[in-house]
Amino acid sequence: MDEKEFVIYNTELFKKIAPRYKWLDFIASRCRITFCKFTGSVNSLKILDVATGTGKQAFAFAKRGAEVMGVDLSEDMLQFARQNNSFKNVDFRLANGTKLPFEDKKFDLTTMSFALHCMTEKVREDTLAEMKRVTKDKGRVSFIDYHKPKKGLGVLIYKGLAKLETPLYKKFLDTDFDETLQKTGLRKVRHKKIFFGTMQMISCEFD
Ligand SMILES: C[S@@+](CC[C@H](N)C(=O)[O-])C[C@H]1O[C@@H](n2cnc3c(N)ncnc32)[C@H](O)[C@@H]1O
Repeated sequence: MDEKEFVIYNTELFKKIAPRYKWLDFIASRCRITFCKFTGSVNSLKILDVATGTGKQAFAFAKRGAEVMGVDLSEDMLQFARQNNSFKNVDFRLANGTKLPFEDKKFDLTTMSFALHCMTEKVREDTLAEMKRVTKDKGRVSFIDYHKPKKGLGVLIYKGLAKLETPLYKKFLDTDFDETLQKTGLRKVRHKKIFFGTMQMISCEFD
C-alpha cells in the first residue's frame, strides 16, 4: 500500500471506528497515566502528540501542565477530541505524521500513543523522521504501543489482540522496531514493557 492508499484506508477505517472509540479509551485509560509517569514531568513543556486520535493522551499531558498540540489524519477521530476538550492548553489539527506542518525544533517532547502499529512501515519511518525534525535538540521522542511477548500470559493476550486488530498490528510486531529507530537516527534511552509484555514504552533522544 503506498502513502496515498494508506491515507484513504486510514480515513475510512477510523470513520467507522471513531464513534466506538470511547470503549477503547475507557480500557486504555490506565495506560495514559502510566505513559505520563514514564515521560516524567511535562509541566510547561511544548508537546506534540502525533496520531492523537480522540485526544485522551493529549489531555493527560495537558492536565500535568504541558502545552499540547495533537495532530491526526482522521477528522472523524479529531471531532471527538475537539468535542471533549475542556483544556485551554490543548489544540488539535488535521495533519499527516509524514508531513508535519511545523517548523524544525519546535517541541520539547514529541509523542505517539498506540499508532505505530496502525501504520505501514514506510509511513511509520517517515513519521518518525518528522517527529525527530520538529523536536528540539536535547528534546525527546516517546512512544507507547504494543509489544510482542515471548512467553506467559502475554502470548495469549497478544494472540487475542491479533484477532481484533488490523493486519498492520501483526506486521508492526514482526518488524524490528529497534532497526527502524536506528534508521531514523533515534537513540533508545529508556524502554519499559508493561501489561504482561504486550505493551511497551520507549523514550528516544538523538544527536
Ligand atoms: C489506534 S488510534 C490511537 C489514537 C490515540 N493516539 C490513542 O492513544 O488512543 C490510531 C490513530 O492514528 C492515526 N494515524 C494513523 N496514521 C497516521 C498518520 N500518518 N498521521 C497522523 N495520524 C495517523 C489514526 O487516524 C488514528 O486516529
